[in-house]
Amino acid sequence: MKKYLVIGNPIEHSLSPKLHNYWIKKNNIDAVYDKKLINEGDIEDIISQVKNGNINGINITVPFKQKVIPFVDELTFEANKSQSVNTIYKEGDKVIGHNTDMVGFELGLKYANYNVKNKKIFILGAGGVVSSIILALKKMEASQIILSNRTKKKAEDLKKVFSYLEIIDWGKTPEFQMIINATSLGLKKNDEIKLNYSDIGTNKFFYDVIYNPKQTIFLKRAKMFGNQTENGKMMFIYQAHQAFTIWHKIMPEIDDETIKLLDL
Ligand code: ATR
Repeated sequence: MKKYLVIGNPIEHSLSPKLHNYWIKKNNIDAVYDKKLINEGDIEDIISQVKNGNINGINITVPFKQKVIPFVDELTFEANKSQSVNTIYKEGDKVIGHNTDMVGFELGLKYANYNVKNKKIFILGAGGVVSSIILALKKMEASQIILSNRTKKKAEDLKKVFSYLEIIDWGKTPEFQMIINATSLGLKKNDEIKLNYSDIGTNKFFYDVIYNPKQTIFLKRAKMFGNQTENGKMMFIYQAHQAFTIWHKIMPEIDDETIKLLDL
């Protein structure tokens, strides 16, 4: 039986096992997908288990998407460009680090019917998934990408790689058409992002990368003020879809049942 894993810390919130095991069963594949809480010191050993065939594939989540890079043999084009790895597989005898978040984000926005072309985008956060989002937004021809992070240094480090970014202080709100919460604020029930919603106005697009809980306070407030909202569920499904296709060479179906599976 083939073995797959999602590793992270925390990991409890991850719905990857639910989704992958659902597709595994639907496609009659002899495999199992588990989640594993790890610490940074465990990364090397887990990746060596991909190399020796004990584990057939790994998804990586917060906060290890960059930290796994030194331990893989090769990065794909996407992983190298974003310096972020969320999917690991073996090809020949090499362990490959790949990134399916970029495509996941792009397809998620398409599903929401939102076109970022020529739009001003405001990103909150500078964590593991942000470089993928920046690259996807640039590919989709956003006109301006403004980014703010509590720890400004991390935002400035991103600007060294993506020179077209505009960095602003945490707590300030620029004018924008779409705002993305890419921080982990919202994972806990009472987490709140301080924003002056009445100044922001209406008819903006609020996107939260978080999909569990389904509606963060960020999205709830946005809706109350008359904005369009979307959570990270479809991005999550599409990134998993890409990983599944690479591992099993089968493209699973994304139907209503799949989407409902992740409703909590
Ligand atoms: P990592 O940074 O290790 O990749 P992440 O969960 O991907 O982990 O990123 C967490 C993001 O949420 C960061 O942008 C973090 O801001 P800092 O860089 O200042 O740590 C942000 N974040 C987490 N808790 C926050 C809080 N209480 N207020 C503001 N931002 C917060």
